[in-house]
Amino acid sequence: MEWGMKNRLAQLIPSDGHCLFLPIDHGYFQGPTRKLEKPGETIKPLLPYCDALFVTRGVLRSAIDPANTKPIILRVSGGTSMVGKDLSNEGLITSMEEAIRLNVSAVGMSIFIGSDHEKENLLNLAKLVDEGEKYGIPVMAVTAVGKELEKRDARYLALCCRIAAELGARIVKTYWCENFDRVVNGCPVPVVMAGGPKVDTDLEVLQFVHDGMEKGAIGVNLGRNIWQNDHPVAMIKALRAIIHEKATVKEANEIFEQEKGMGPKASSFILR
Ligand code: 5RP
Repeated sequence: MEWGMKNRLAQLIPSDGHCLFLPIDHGYFQGPTRKLEKPGETIKPLLPYCDALFVTRGVLRSAIDPANTKPIILRVSGGTSMVGKDLSNEGLITSMEEAIRLNVSAVGMSIFIGSDHEKENLLNLAKLVDEGEKYGIPVMAVTAVGKELEKRDARYLALCCRIAAELGARIVKTYWCENFDRVVNGCPVPVVMAGGPKVDTDLEVLQFVHDGMEKGAIGVNLGRNIWQNDHPVAMIKALRAIIHEKATVKEANEIFEQEKGMGPKASSFILR
């Protein structure tokens, strides 16, 4: 692997090999998602606790301070909306030259396996990988399920992740599911977990992230279950403890409960 590619991956994934990516790209098809109406304000208290941001160029340029941020994974696919005909009908919306100009550490795009647009999605992924490899920029493939949340099962997600890796993605983002080890074991590149729509209880988030880490994920690319939480700083700190400090669910929940009352003050346990 070339130095530039290695260096960018090291910017995203700290030396313990684990990572907490914070996605705030949802507006590219959802519009002003709840609690992400003003992305710059949403992330301000969360930035110290994430390892990278997943964001479109529009939000990057308008809401992220270039002098004070974290490594950027640039979302480069889009062209659809949640009120349009088909979420899978995405194309590439940002060039590699723009990614370089924005000094990003990686680019990311969605693939909708099994959709009417599977072929275009996968050919776009291959094209993006070719471009990325030319300049040493890793590609994160987002295995998307669109509105069909029932597709979150190990057999399907293992298929999606493996295909993304075979086409050259350096990191694959997928959803946690039962028997998650089946997904990770079939994927030769690092896997990070997304959360999807906010789950019912805070404990559930800690439980599925802990389970996924135990089963081989390197971390998360987790958005709504952090910034839509009533206590987003407490939640990101608790998740950080699982990801970077090997905290158990019980320990993480204690951190969450303790931090709920503390606001954005730093905890030494987490910021070692
Ligand atoms: C949607 C995405 C998000 O980056 C991904 O789904 C993670 O966010 P969440 O945890 O909220 O599902 O690709 O645009």
